[in-house]
Amino acid sequence: MKTKILMVCLGNICRSPLAEGLLKSKLNLDNFLVDSAGTGHWHIGNPPDPRSVKVAKAHDIDITHQRGMLFEKDFFEEYDHIFVMDQSNYLDVIAMATNDEDHGKVSLILDELFPDEQVDVPDPYTGGELGFENVYRMLDEATTKIAKRL
Ligand code: 4NP
Repeated sequence: MKTKILMVCLGNICRSPLAEGLLKSKLNLDNFLVDSAGTGHWHIGNPPDPRSVKVAKAHDIDITHQRGMLFEKDFFEEYDHIFVMDQSNYLDVIAMATNDEDHGKVSLILDELFPDEQVDVPDPYTGGELGFENVYRMLDEATTKIAKRL
């Protein structure tokens, strides 16, 4: 059975699609399934933000096929690991957890690089392209760590 990993942000169009694309590029997908979702409903069914598509493409990663999905309580049963981008996502996801096992599946993705420091991947949505490059670099490092560990 495949290990299932879910990346979560607010809109599921900027950060988590990049995290999904990056981690997919580093794992053997015969053994792993990687998805992403958002805690907000605004972009359900939409492709990723063009700025995320652009920064991914610049690094030879194609995320154009991804579509926005809303995080749901049932996902705790579906996925083995749930990586959230910031503390607000963490609170939104944890609010839907029903037991310790659910709780234990959720972590801040940058805990991979800065354990116990509660470092957020900043939301780049309202900023410029530099913010997306910055997010890409953080997620590149974090997903390398995850891929090595899993
Ligand atoms: P993301 O960024 O959570 O990294 O996908 C956002 C995208 C859209 C919105 C907020 C954050 N929004 O409010 O529409």
